[in-house]
Amino acid sequence: MAGRIPQSFINDLLARVDIVDVINARLTLKKAGKNYQALCPFHDEKTPSFSVSPDKQFYHCFGCGESGTALTFLMEHDHLEFVEAVENMAGLVGLEVPREEGAPRVRDNSNLYELLARAAKHFRQSLKTAPQAVGYLKSRGLTGEIARNFGIGYAPEGWDGITRALADVSENLLLEAGLLTSNDKGRVYDRFRERIMFPIRDTRGRVIGFGGRIFGDGSGPKYLNSPETPVFHKGRELYGLFEARRALRHIDRLVVVEGYMDVAALAQEGIANAVATLGTASTQDHFHKLFRHTQEVVCCFDGDSAGRKAAWRALENALPTLTEGRQLKFVFLPDGEDPDTLVRARGRPAFISLVDEARPAIEYLFERLGDGLSMQNLDDQARLASLAMPYIDRVPGGILKDLMLNRLQLLTGFIPNTAGATPVSRSRNTSPNRLSPLSKRLLTYLLKNPGLYQALPPDRRREITALEEGDLFLDVVKYLDENPEADSALLLGRWSGDAAHGELVALFERRLDLTDGAMTAEFVEGVARYVAGANSARRRRLLAEIREQPSTEKLKRFWKLKQLSNKNQGRGDDRG
Ligand code: UTP
Ligand code: MN
Repeated sequence: MAGRIPQSFINDLLARVDIVDVINARLTLKKAGKNYQALCPFHDEKTPSFSVSPDKQFYHCFGCGESGTALTFLMEHDHLEFVEAVENMAGLVGLEVPREEGAPRVRDNSNLYELLARAAKHFRQSLKTAPQAVGYLKSRGLTGEIARNFGIGYAPEGWDGITRALADVSENLLLEAGLLTSNDKGRVYDRFRERIMFPIRDTRGRVIGFGGRIFGDGSGPKYLNSPETPVFHKGRELYGLFEARRALRHIDRLVVVEGYMDVAALAQEGIANAVATLGTASTQDHFHKLFRHTQEVVCCFDGDSAGRKAAWRALENALPTLTEGRQLKFVFLPDGEDPDTLVRARGRPAFISLVDEARPAIEYLFERLGDGLSMQNLDDQARLASLAMPYIDRVPGGILKDLMLNRLQLLTGFIPNTAGATPVSRSRNTSPNRLSPLSKRLLTYLLKNPGLYQALPPDRRREITALEEGDLFLDVVKYLDENPEADSALLLGRWSGDAAHGELVALFERRLDLTDGAMTAEFVEGVARYVAGANSARRRRLLAEIREQPSTEKLKRFWKLKQLSNKNQGRGDDRG
């Protein structure tokens, strides 16, 4: 187990490495007064609005709002994970990355990666002496070249092939890697037998798991996948992303399909930008990952009702990731076809034009919500407005959100956020300069140590996530509530491209000299004050509304809030 990287080391790195050097190695910088300018690498532009400040050691694009430090630049530009970016920067100044003792957060999985790579090699070699398997791949139209590019192999029949091929590796490790499985009698044997093996690689090209397809007269499910392991998380990985990145210098668009075979068949036909989820629905993590590599994502779905359901779920999960400039589109395939059969039957140009004509997901959203409603009818207009607002709310502020609001207004005549067209609060305060000192402090703790959220008592978590209006801190809290696994890098990644990103990075990089224990205590206490403050602000607003236009309903709500705060006063935390 490697401990986590001490914050002091990261601060030290940022002090030693000049951001101008880091960026100049990747873009053409021109001096402009005190600063440097370049064409922004994060969005398309003809005149430079990307600026680097050597004084502040910060970059900022006035066009798309991306900003950050040398570290975030490496993460965004080179598509590196946080730890990789730190390692990369440390390499520039010849430093070893130290790890903190006693706070193990990053596990060392190098032995798993190594044995998975060896297993993949074993499967590749076994394919050479398995004419039935090769014959099957040929019958599916795959050439040797594509099989090589994707590292496709074959797991021979038998129960101990992997144990014999990796004789020096312990049974426990093979079990942990998901290559062995055991039955209820405790017998341990090969998980993959008589299957075509598709290695699943992470974006660095390391094998992290496998998908195995049955063929001929084998038995069991059509596809067997590696189980969740320390290095393999189905809900996050995308089959073919590594291969797409290797094949394409710049990825204009990624096409998300359902199956391994779809990815391989499309690549075979010269369409190298397809990736597949691993038998799961597309998650928010998937979209974060996809949009780290491209600005346009086109998801392919079956044309049936299951496909429509899948599209709706994908849409819900994607909304929070649709920051400036990112596009999500949907294609619904003709009945009974998948990308594999389609591209084989109709050829590459036909498939590409299908993808070119994909529908913007937002259009799809309005169409589905408006299904069965008539925009001539006032009640239906109100209904559409109240249906659409929760979705619009999930989109980060920016042009897309404004377009959605305009569209809603055009359709319904409702002006969200003013006439009280909907009970949902529209834009939360995500403008960084309106963060209170308390929120800033809590955010710093949470960004450095997202696990803190779990230190809150469950009651307090319910209370804070129930708040409707808040600031960036509340947004981060709600995100962590839905994504308890998120680490600092994922959190920062979630807001990249958002106006608030720079503020978050700055808070993340603040120096703190607190022990873990003290930080936890301060955090728990601070959240109590935050909630109390938010509730009393709500009471004040409600009171003002009551003065303006009294109603029993409002009075009831007021008394309920009042009772709640009396209850909390016993804990002495209502200082709002
Ligand atoms: P499909 O059943 O659509 O298979 O499953 P496919 O990709 O078209 O494969 P071929 O053309 O029949 O060879 C789509 C994806 O769902 C997952 C796999 O990830 C597969 O690629 N799946 C499917 C499983 O995990 N297990 C299964 O038994 C079936
Ligand atoms: Mn198929």
